[in-house]
Amino acid sequence: MNIGIIGTGYVGLVTGACFADLGNNVICADNDNEKIKSLKKGNVTIYEPGLEEIVMRNNKNGRLKFTDSIKETVTKSDIIFICVGTPPKENGEADLIYIERVSRDIARNINGYKLIVEKSTVPVQTGERVKDVISSYKKNKIKFDVASNPEFLREGTAIKDFMNPDRVVIGIESKRAKNLLIELYRPLRAPFVVTDIKGAEIIKHASNSFLATKISFINAISNICEVVGTDVVEVAKGIGLDKRINTDFFNAGIGYGGSCFPKDVNAFIHIADKLGYDFGLLREVEKINEMQKDLFVKKIKHMLWNLPGKKIGILGLSFKPDTDDIRSAPALDIIVALQAEGCDIKAYDPKAVNKAKKILKGVKFCKNAYEVARGSDCLVIATEWNEFKELDFKRIKRLLHRPIIIDGRNIYDPKKMKKMGFRYTAIGRKV
Ligand code: UGA
Repeated sequence: MNIGIIGTGYVGLVTGACFADLGNNVICADNDNEKIKSLKKGNVTIYEPGLEEIVMRNNKNGRLKFTDSIKETVTKSDIIFICVGTPPKENGEADLIYIERVSRDIARNINGYKLIVEKSTVPVQTGERVKDVISSYKKNKIKFDVASNPEFLREGTAIKDFMNPDRVVIGIESKRAKNLLIELYRPLRAPFVVTDIKGAEIIKHASNSFLATKISFINAISNICEVVGTDVVEVAKGIGLDKRINTDFFNAGIGYGGSCFPKDVNAFIHIADKLGYDFGLLREVEKINEMQKDLFVKKIKHMLWNLPGKKIGILGLSFKPDTDDIRSAPALDIIVALQAEGCDIKAYDPKAVNKAKKILKGVKFCKNAYEVARGSDCLVIATEWNEFKELDFKRIKRLLHRPIIIDGRNIYDPKKMKKMGFRYTAIGRKV
């Protein structure tokens, strides 16, 4: 099939590369010339395991092309995926200006039947707007369909998630659109959920919001566990092994971050509000998530007594492991709060240091965990990268000014830490 992708950000690039790998002809468009130039050379600017190989392979075999021309993308494709950003406005509402512009550009270049698919995460009823814009700007009688096909891939496991989805959600209005999308996704052998466009739009916002709710729920439980002196890891297991609840996305920590959960929960609250429903539950989910970071800073303060002048070593800056993405990363808010309390910060992350350097001021960035530990008053785990799980703790203890570890991701066994002579605290754990 001939596929056009408009917007080569995270979702667009992974989608384009994977569809090409499945044997389709794909053209990816972006208005960022520099990005297109570097993609043409096979340079992928984001860190995502396996993505560069797929881009290179399909660049070479000619199935994956990059362009800055929307005209070329629209005219040469039968199915066009809109993958442009929907960033939050100041009030948290999704900004849909790029979706509107792309819809207009598609209308101006339409040269035969097209299926236009929303892949970007958008509020419910955006599909109607897209359809309306295309109809009103289109100068010919050519037919088109709009569909919604939300993406559920996670950063860090994007290729695996794309190629092995739990389900493929298709929101359509015509049989032609349904058949085209089923044909396109058939090689993935995943169950299809076929619904209308609004249903598919809600499924995406609701899925991310539900997962965020699960995380905030277990974070709230962790605070109770801590007060009474029991262990949230055992409690979460005891709850989550009920198949109806499930243990996934049920790890207590310093809160969710990234480019999706914070933005999508907020956008869902906004669209619900616009529709006349007060989604108080999600407001509480956000509140718990913010509180979790404040409580963590208080915990650090409790362990160190007075914060001014203390040297804090931070391990992990990305919003989760296996990505260099620092958007809404809890680590950053925690660092800024500690700096405001007068602390000196040293930090290390296996992939995210370059991005963090552009945002954080006054932080000493280190080459590894040991350099962070040297002379610090405590070591703080902010992201659960695998390399932090197996450190040389004897060395860490020697290097630290005081043997204190404050674990925001519950990656260590409290008993072992105590046995090794550390003063250890984590999130909702019996220590
Ligand atoms: C999320 C969803 O998981 C994807 O299904 C979705 O496609 C994507 O958003 C999107 O809308 O594009 P992602 O943002 O890559 O994916 O990251 P997640 O793996 O979902 O993690 C989100 C945050 O939750 C991270 O900060 C992580 O540390 C935190 N988290 C996750 C917890 O605090 N506890 C958990 O148990 C799980």
